[in-house]
Amino acid sequence: MNFADSEIVGAILSKEHYLITKEIDQADYILINTCAIRDNAEQRIRKRLRELKALQRQRQWVKIGILGCMAERLKQQLMEEEDNVSFIVGPDAYRKLPEMLAHIHDGEKLAETLLSDSETYADIEPVRYDTNGITAYISIMRGCQNYCAYCVVPYTRGRERSRDPQTIVNEAKELFAKGYREVTLLGQNVNSYKWVSGDGTVGFPQLMALVAEVSPLLRVRFATSHPKDLSDDLLKVMAKYDNICKCIHLPVQSGSERMLKLMNRRYTPEWYLDRIAAIRHYLPTCSITTDVIAGFCTETEEDHQATLEMFRKVRYDYAYMFKFSMRPNTYAEKHLNDDVPDDVKTRRLEEIIALQGDIALENNQKEIGKEYEVLIEGVSHRSDAQLFGRNSQNKVIVFDRGGLQPGQYTNVRVTRCTSATLIGEVTDK
Ligand code: 5AD
Ligand code: SF4
Repeated sequence: MNFADSEIVGAILSKEHYLITKEIDQADYILINTCAIRDNAEQRIRKRLRELKALQRQRQWVKIGILGCMAERLKQQLMEEEDNVSFIVGPDAYRKLPEMLAHIHDGEKLAETLLSDSETYADIEPVRYDTNGITAYISIMRGCQNYCAYCVVPYTRGRERSRDPQTIVNEAKELFAKGYREVTLLGQNVNSYKWVSGDGTVGFPQLMALVAEVSPLLRVRFATSHPKDLSDDLLKVMAKYDNICKCIHLPVQSGSERMLKLMNRRYTPEWYLDRIAAIRHYLPTCSITTDVIAGFCTETEEDHQATLEMFRKVRYDYAYMFKFSMRPNTYAEKHLNDDVPDDVKTRRLEEIIALQGDIALENNQKEIGKEYEVLIEGVSHRSDAQLFGRNSQNKVIVFDRGGLQPGQYTNVRVTRCTSATLIGEVTDK
C-alpha cells in the first residue's frame, strides 16, 4: 500500500517537473513515506530522522518531509518533536505537495493532513519505482472503516472509497502494453470494493473479471481480503479465469472466538473455517496466507492455543506474524488493557513462528514432483546462472537459466525445497 502511494507521489511531483533521485546526496527534498501500524515502524522513522541530521549539516538547504500514516496520526506534533522535519503530508493530501514545496521558505514548517471522503488519485498514472518491469501494484480503493479494535488504519487513512473501474482497467492495459505481466489490485478490504454509476454497480468479483479480461497473459492478484466479506462469487470468478492467481491472503488475527470478538473482527473461528472450506472447494490448488497477532489484550494461554490450533487446521503457506502493539486512539487503547507481559507475547509469537515454519516446509515438500507455470521475474540473488519466478500460488521457484528471460512464462517441475523457496527444473525446453 505504501509502495503504491509513493508511486503516486512520484507522479504528482514529476508532473510539476521535480526530478526524482535515489541518490540521497543529490536530493534537495527528502520525502519519507511512513506507516503507523505498529510502534516499531514509527520508531524506525524517528531513528532515520536522527541519522539524516548529519546530511543536513552538510547540505543545509535540504528539507525533509514526512508523508503517510505517521504524518496523519501525529500531525503538527511530529514537527514539534522532530526539529529537522519541514513539512508533513497525510495520505489524502499528496496533490498539495508541489504547491507546498514551491512555497516553503527556510525555517518555515507546513502541514496538510486533511482526510477526504473522495480522493482516490484515480486520474494519476503512478511513476513505477524499483520496477522489474514485470509486476506492478494498482490501488483500487483507499481507506478502511472496519475499526478492528487494535488498528490505527481507519484513523490514518480515512473512510473507505473505491476507484472508478474504468481507470483501473485502463491502468492494467497500459501496464500490459509496456510489457508488465502481473498486476496486484490493492485495498485494505478489497471485498468491499463497490462502484455505482449510471451503468450499474461493479463489485469486486466483477472488477476482477474486467481486469482478467485485459489479456490471458496478464496475471491478476489481489490483497487484502477480510474474512467476513469473502464471497463465493469471488471464488467462482477466480476459478473461471486461469490468469487470476490461485492465492488468497486471509488475515485470521486470532483463532480464539473471544479474541476475535474483542478485536471486532465480526467473524467466528467457525465462519473463518467455513471460508477456508469454500476456498478449498472452488479452488483446490489455491494457496492461503494470513496475518496473526500474538498477545492482544487479555489473551490467555487457552486463546493462544486456539490460534495454534487454527494454524494446524488451515495449514497456511505463509504467515505475517506480529506481536500486539498498542496504538494510540484505537478502541483497544481507550477501553482495554495491554495486560499480556512482553515476554509472554514474545514466547507466544515464537511458538506461532516455529509451528508455521514446520507447516510451510511440509507444504513445500508436497510440491516436489509437481509442475507449475512460472512467470519469470528476474535473476536469482544467489547465482547469475539461475532465474527466479513465481507460480500462480505466489510461491518463489528458482531454476537454471537456460535461454530464458525475465517476463517470459515457463513450465518448471519442482525437485527440491526449503520452507521459503522451491527449486526446480524447466520442462518445456
Ligand atoms: N499490533 C500488531 N499487529 C497489528 N496489525 C495491525 N495493527 C496491529 C497492532 N496494533 C497487523 C494485523 C494486520 C497487519 C497489516 O498488521 O495483523 O492484518
Ligand atoms: Fe485495520 Fe481491520 Fe481495516 Fe485491516 S480491516 S486495515 S486490520 S481496521
